Amino acid sequence: MERTFVMVKPDGVQRALIGNIVSRLERKGLKVIAMKIYRIPRDIAERFYAEHKGKQFYDGLINYITSGPAVCMVWEGHEAVSVVRAIMGKTNPAEAQPGTVRGDFALHPGRNAIHGSDSQASAKREINLLFNDYELIDYRRIDAEWLVE
Ligand code: RTP
Ligand code: MG
Repeated sequence: MERTFVMVKPDGVQRALIGNIVSRLERKGLKVIAMKIYRIPRDIAERFYAEHKGKQFYDGLINYITSGPAVCMVWEGHEAVSVVRAIMGKTNPAEAQPGTVRGDFALHPGRNAIHGSDSQASAKREINLLFNDYELIDYRRIDAEWLVE
């Protein structure tokens, strides 16, 4: 079972999209094992988006992600990383397919509502940055046997 880090970004929280986004991941069959509302401190944001340091959108990105509370989550399931990326849609919401979170709810790459890890290595790094091990909850969903062969 794979794990991935997912965030409802500050615009998603302000636009009341938490429930809709959580619902999409839940009904897909993924299992939430950690969740908190959190205003990400600047130093954590800078470490989180270190790969983008120096890019023209970097300062705006750090200001955006620290501008208000976000909802940070860990989701687990079969191919969780790529499944969440597909549910999110393309980085630029103007190009994201309808039916995806960004395709349905967002307009501009600087306000794209959701984050999901782009690889298992990123997921591990991001989960460690935002959660302690004891915050990851081990439990079994009663539909588990109906979700994976
Ligand atoms: P994320 O990391 O937030 O899940 O998004 P992503 O993988 O789809 O996109 P990535 O290339 O990692 O970019 C990180 C975030 O930077 C902002 N961005 N703005 N204004 C722009 O041209 C621009 N390009 C990227 C977006 O918020 C993007 O999600
Ligand atoms: Mg990314």
